Order: sequence, then structure tokens, then C-alpha cells
Amino acid sequence: MSAPGTTLASAPSALPRWPDDGRMESVLAELRDRPPLVGYDRCRMLSDELAGVAAGHAFLVHAGDCAELFADVSPLLSARKDAQLRDLSWIVRCATARPVVRLGRIGGQFAKPRSCGVEDHAGEPLPVYRGDAVNDRATGALARHPDCGRLLTAYDKAAEVLRHLRERRRAGALYTSHDGLLCEFEEALVRIDSRTQTRYASSAHLLWAGDRTRELGGPHIELLASVANPVAVKLGPRATAADVAELVEVLDPDRRPGRLVFIARLGNDAVEQRLPELVEAALAADARPVWLCDPMHENTFCTAHGRKTRAVADLVREVAAFVRVLRLARAHPGGVHLEATPQHVTECVERREDGRSPVDLPRYRSGCDPRLNAGQARAVVAAFTRAVTA
Ligand code: PEP
Ligand code: CO
Repeated sequence: MSAPGTTLASAPSALPRWPDDGRMESVLAELRDRPPLVGYDRCRMLSDELAGVAAGHAFLVHAGDCAELFADVSPLLSARKDAQLRDLSWIVRCATARPVVRLGRIGGQFAKPRSCGVEDHAGEPLPVYRGDAVNDRATGALARHPDCGRLLTAYDKAAEVLRHLRERRRAGALYTSHDGLLCEFEEALVRIDSRTQTRYASSAHLLWAGDRTRELGGPHIELLASVANPVAVKLGPRATAADVAELVEVLDPDRRPGRLVFIARLGNDAVEQRLPELVEAALAADARPVWLCDPMHENTFCTAHGRKTRAVADLVREVAAFVRVLRLARAHPGGVHLEATPQHVTECVERREDGRSPVDLPRYRSGCDPRLNAGQARAVVAAFTRAVTA
């Protein structure tokens, strides 16, 4: 059964179904008229820096919110997120004496792929929240109705965050990225760089395709294939060696260093078993992608109070296993991909047993998945650096 409010895509319910009220065309026309959000030179700079990571000379820290919220956008919060990325990359830099590239899930991470189109709300089915670019987090059926006018707000909010970050540029470059889930939005923001006559996604320096939308021949991979930005693909436990080989062929036919990032999100149970053949498949295809470990998305479980959470101890184990596998394959463990916030939250727990506590997590504010707070994010990054320097 397909859930209401969804369309069948690479995974059922991953994508919103916009109301057929004729508004989308005018929204997209307006987006097409707006200036690019990021500069193409900076996209190329990110590629160059990622080439250093792929070659094993540098590392990448990729982190930020699961879902950014329009209401949270402020100069202070942007500054704190930037500072958190700097703090995390500094941990890696100090331990490894290598340059560290900083990439935020920031300035456009406003849309979420969902596994199920409905959620249970006090015993009643409610269409799921799909990110501020699509619907409202408030728990009313009307609020959850997809509203394409939100795409214009997503552009405005992204522009605001980028402005905040540019004002802080003296502190060094933080690149931006998000899930390129809403293809119509991303396509409306594709621009031709007149200097190089190349197509660039202009909404972020890097876009990724999620594990649910990475099907070959699907619109998300087609979009990524059509632009010159560096791009990433998430690989979950169902990803195969053949998927990796074909993704390399489609997304990086010229084997351009710094073009392609694979984000392994395999989970503690599968990482040692599944990752070796994925890494080997890339090597066999003569590709040198950046390999990142996302220890968050396959280590999620529910607390006794029904909250989604993750245990830092699980994440620490996955990043350590990731590094072991990459090392055995003689490939470079490029870095980590985390959902983290500088805000004082309690969304992740230290150990699995903590999820059984009769006390609910007191400061749970995430718009979607549970994020690491500052100390927890440091602990996971420190585990990564311990593994790479061991
Ligand atoms: C995410 O990064 O928030 C996410 C949903 O990841 P994935 O698409 O890989 O599940
Ligand atoms: Co998430």
C-alpha cells in the first residue's frame, strides 16, 4: 500500500507529492530568475580540496543538522555551527597534522526523504514531516500539506545562512551541502557558468543523493551526473559492488579527483561485512572517491519513550570499523559525516542501555533525526582520529 501524500519513487514515500494546483510552475519560474546561491569558483575549490582527501593527504569533516529549520536561522546560530565544524576539524588536524576540509550540512538542508509517508499521532495517522522546504512540523493535517511556496522560503533562508557564513570567511572556508532530494528545486537553480560553459548546481557547493534516492537512471543520480559540482552518494546496507561500479561510471566517467564522495552508512552490524566489497569495487573501477563514514543513519533505535535515538558507543564502534576496513583495502579513510549541533540537546545517548531509562530525553529539539551535541560529536571525531593514527 502506498502511503497518502507520497509518490512512488526509488523508495516508496521518499519524495513529497506536491498538490496539482498549478502553483509549482510559477515558483520554479521565480527560482530560475534568482541569482545563484554559491559561486562556481568555490565549487571548484571544494573539488580541489576533496582531491587532496581522495589522495590521502587530507581529511574531511562533514556535519550539521539532520533537518535545518527556517525558524532557527540566525547569525548567531550560523556562527555557532561554523565554530562547531572548526572545532571538530581542529581535533582531526591536531592529531593527524593534515589539512581538514570542512563541509556543513548547512544552508539548504531543508528536505527529508522518508521511509513511511505517515506517522502515528495520538493514535491517528498524520502525513510525515518532510522538511521545512515541503511542509510544517506542527502536528496538524493542514500543516503537513506540501506547500511549494516553501521552496522560495528555502532559497531565502539558504541565502541568509550563506551570507552569515561569508561574513565569517576570515575564519576560513566552510563549504555547504545538502541532500539534493527536491529535483525540481535543484534543477531550477542549475546555472551555466559562462566562463567554463559548465552546468553547476548553484544551491550548494556539494549535493548528495540519499540511500533511498540513489537508483541508477533515477532523477537524483541524473541530476548529480549533469552538474560539475563535487557530488556524494550515500550507501546503505543494501548497496552492492555493482551499484558502486555503476555510480562511478555515471557520476565520475573521467575519474576526476575530488569529484565523487561515497558516504558509507552501513551500521555496526554490516560495516565490516559489507564495506570491503564496496571499496574494492571502486578500486577495481579505477576510481579514487573520497570515503566518508556516516555512523548515524543505520544505528538508530527507539527509546522506551518512543524517541528515535543513537548511542555514541555504537557510532564510535562504526567509525573505528570503517577505518579498519579502509586501511585493509589500502584506501584512505577520508573522514566522517555526522548529524550534530552546537545547541545544548540530548537527542543521542551515551550507551544503548540509556535508551531504556524511564526518564525521557529532556532536550530533544531535532526537526528529524537525533543529533550529537558538541561533546558527543567531539567524542565520535576523536574516535575517528584515534583509529586513523593508531
Ligand atoms: C540524512 O542524511 O539525513 C538521511 C536521511 O540519510 P539517508 O538518505 O542516507 O538515509
Ligand atoms: Co538524518
